[in-house]
Amino acid sequence: MSRRPPDHPCGAGREMRAAWILTVCALVTAQTAGGSPLIPDPEVFLEKYGYLHQDNHIHNTVEVQSAIREFQWLSRLPVTGELDGATLRQMAEPRCGVSDEGSQQIWAQRVNAIFTGKRAAAGRPQSRRKRSAAQAEKWYKRHLTYQIVNWPRHLSLGSVRLAVRAAFQLWSNVSGLVFQEAPEGPADIRLAFYEGDHNDGASNAFDGPGGTLAHAFLPRRGEAHFDMAERWTLNGHKGHNLFMVTAHEIGHTLGLEHSPVRNALMSPYYRKLGRSLVLSWDDIIAVQQLYGKPSGDRPVRLPGQVLHATLQEWETTELKTTGQPLYCQGIFDAITMDQNDTVLVFRGSMYWTVSAEGRVSGPLPLRQRWSDLPPAIEAATFSPLDSKWYFFKGKRMWRYNDSVLDPGFPRKSSDLGLPRHPDCAFFYTPLGHMVLFKGSRYSVLNLKTLRQEPYYPRRLTDWTGVPQGTNGVLTRPGGRLYLFREQRFWTFDPVKVRVTREGQWAKDLSWTGCRNTLQSNNIL
Ligand SMILES: *[C@@H]1O[C@H](CO)[C@@H](O)[C@H](O)[C@H]1NC(C)=O
Ligand SMILES: *[C@@H]1O[C@H](CO)[C@@H](O)[C@H](O)[C@H]1NC(C)=O
Ligand SMILES: *[C@@H]1O[C@H](CO)[C@@H](O)[C@H](O)[C@H]1NC(C)=O
Ligand SMILES: [Zn+2]
Repeated sequence: MSRRPPDHPCGAGREMRAAWILTVCALVTAQTAGGSPLIPDPEVFLEKYGYLHQDNHIHNTVEVQSAIREFQWLSRLPVTGELDGATLRQMAEPRCGVSDEGSQQIWAQRVNAIFTGKRAAAGRPQSRRKRSAAQAEKWYKRHLTYQIVNWPRHLSLGSVRLAVRAAFQLWSNVSGLVFQEAPEGPADIRLAFYEGDHNDGASNAFDGPGGTLAHAFLPRRGEAHFDMAERWTLNGHKGHNLFMVTAHEIGHTLGLEHSPVRNALMSPYYRKLGRSLVLSWDDIIAVQQLYGKPSGDRPVRLPGQVLHATLQEWETTELKTTGQPLYCQGIFDAITMDQNDTVLVFRGSMYWTVSAEGRVSGPLPLRQRWSDLPPAIEAATFSPLDSKWYFFKGKRMWRYNDSVLDPGFPRKSSDLGLPRHPDCAFFYTPLGHMVLFKGSRYSVLNLKTLRQEPYYPRRLTDWTGVPQGTNGVLTRPGGRLYLFREQRFWTFDPVKVRVTREGQWAKDLSWTGCRNTLQSNNIL
């Protein structure tokens, strides 16, 4: 199989060379029957990512060991040539589906060029495996146009447009490239959202939420495809960050290969938008070796934090245009209900309230009510036991009496015996304790002792019918639990001890504050 798609789109080699196959849910949270993480067949994996030839799927020990060493090198693991635990775990990490073949040589060339002061030869080195003479895989112009062909669900046009523009700016701010959106007509680079098979060959069909997120072609085909079924977000912890995935894919459309540098955007492994700079020195050198430095000024790089705040702002400004609370589009960070039966919905740096009468207020800034709380919390619950608010994010738990942070908080979840990054938290009256869900397990926190109860965590299967990965849970008057995951909800009956109902919350549950305005939402 040729690794290079031809430049003409209808050639024989239509197979996708560059495919983001981020097996976020499928590989990372999937558990085999024995409870160990699902690990791909190492030889299949090494073939797929270009470390082993695919001629007859027969490899001798020397070939396999050498392939493992190369994989370990690119993955920054100790280079042992052995399929040890760390290596197998790395193979199960969410990653880009683009083959890593040749990335090592290209990187070596790049570094060599820095020291010798020469520009790296355009194009790729001759491969150790069958490959025709490498052609320069870059654009021969500096001014490129792009087009967003269609749009993801759950994000507004405006915020997607801004995020895509920022993703292109990341690259133009550090290189000689200039990008311009071409809303209509021909464009050099096209970004499109597709569901399932979209004529890129069966092996490149999208696979629903999780699994494959997106894929892209090297120059000069100029296409990046995104899985429409993903939960795309610009904000917060849950879902896949469209800005980061787009920025990585743009790198491929410009001709960049994978990088072995840990913080590189072009590292094969998926990265969240964190505090650090999005582009590493290696990304910058790679793009500058192809397209030169930015004209005039020095490269402009914004810290991840700044971009993060900007993306959040964009996500919330769309409210003004849709007239519907943003969370109704299916994504929120957490949900709970206070002692007055007011529902609170949290998303990014904002929250909304829905009164018992169904009146929606907000969005209001989180920090206005709970100062010192970071944006994009992961779980929140009001506890009727002590009338306090509990918030979780990352490794920490915050506790507020009304709006006042209790002394000694935030506390480390590990000190309380709790997991990091919980899916959701809620006070469960039948137990008299707080419950946290995380993946396939749940924990029980005694709010008086602030310790996990003995014999926990236990398996989530105790909660018959409850799915993994819920983003919020609350108890309604009458005692029923409502669990939320993306657009769906499940009702758990504590007497029958099982899920008794399932549906779409924005449509079916008027107390979420979404039902009245649903019709006006058809552009999203
Ligand atoms: C690119 O640089 C401009 C200033 O030259 C800045 O306003 C913009 O925020 C930068 N964008 C990114 C994504 O770094
Ligand atoms: C609940 O309602 C009472 C009055 O009915 C009010 O004083 C109190 O502040 C409300 N609590 C919250 C958390 O909004
Ligand atoms: C919460 O704060 C109020 C004062 O704002 C105080 O009266 C009350 O006792 C506090 N509650 C707890 C449980 O500490
Ligand atoms: Zn990639």
